[in-house]
Amino acid sequence: MGWHDVSVRRPVSVIAHRGASEDAPEHTLAAYRMAIEHGADGLECDVRLTADGHLVCVHDRRVDRVSNGRGAVSTLELADLAALDFGSWKDPYEKPESMDRHGRSVLTLDRLLRLVKESEQAGRRVELAIETKHPTRWAGQVEERLVALVREYGLTDSVRVMSFSARSLHRVRRALPQVPTVFLMQFLLPRHREGRLPPGVGITGPSMRIIRNHPDYVIRAQRAGHRVHVWTVDDPLDVELCARLDVDGIITNRPRQVIDQLRSL
Ligand code: G3P
Ligand code: CA
Repeated sequence: MGWHDVSVRRPVSVIAHRGASEDAPEHTLAAYRMAIEHGADGLECDVRLTADGHLVCVHDRRVDRVSNGRGAVSTLELADLAALDFGSWKDPYEKPESMDRHGRSVLTLDRLLRLVKESEQAGRRVELAIETKHPTRWAGQVEERLVALVREYGLTDSVRVMSFSARSLHRVRRALPQVPTVFLMQFLLPRHREGRLPPGVGITGPSMRIIRNHPDYVIRAQRAGHRVHVWTVDDPLDVELCARLDVDGIITNRPRQVIDQLRSL
């Protein structure tokens, strides 16, 4: 894995949040290709289940903000989503060459895993952090489909699964014990203050707000044996704080700028 050295004790992994989503429309193939070109160590994506059982990379419950369509992902079939444009909402922006018609289509997890595989085969290894969105609604279907796809692509070494739901992570670990899991936290609850995580979870994913308010959480979690991956870190002052605190991963919408900053520290 291409770690970026900084003048701190440990390397920091830079993970592109929804792809290089500051520069390209989030969750599009173009945004992920760009993140790889920009040198990201990892890619982050959210997954939701369509009405006909496919996993697509969309953050919101509805498609309205990021496409020219309307409606909840869970009520639309993949063919409905494929007819929509998930890129133009971001216009005008500097389009990368990779922003062809396919670059702005809805992105399936299947296609994103293929990109990771193709990148690996071309000698550029990149990790994929998959976040399950509202998995409890689907009684395990999200995890089941995710596990099947990761197995199909033989990418258990390159994937980790993230969630705000401990139950979702537990389901994934039961099927794929070798895949690392990340427990996401928006706020630091008293039961997590000392760095404890749900059983079996190896990585903690605190929000940047937690790190600003409780910087000592990083060392507590690391002493408890966990890696710390912070989201979403775009402000240079936050990047500096994360580097100073020696976090293990920075999840950001602007991987190129963060990599440049870490190199200059
Ligand atoms: O990487 C974790 C982060 O993405 C969680 O928040 O709302 O951006 O999915 P959200
Ligand atoms: Ca996410």
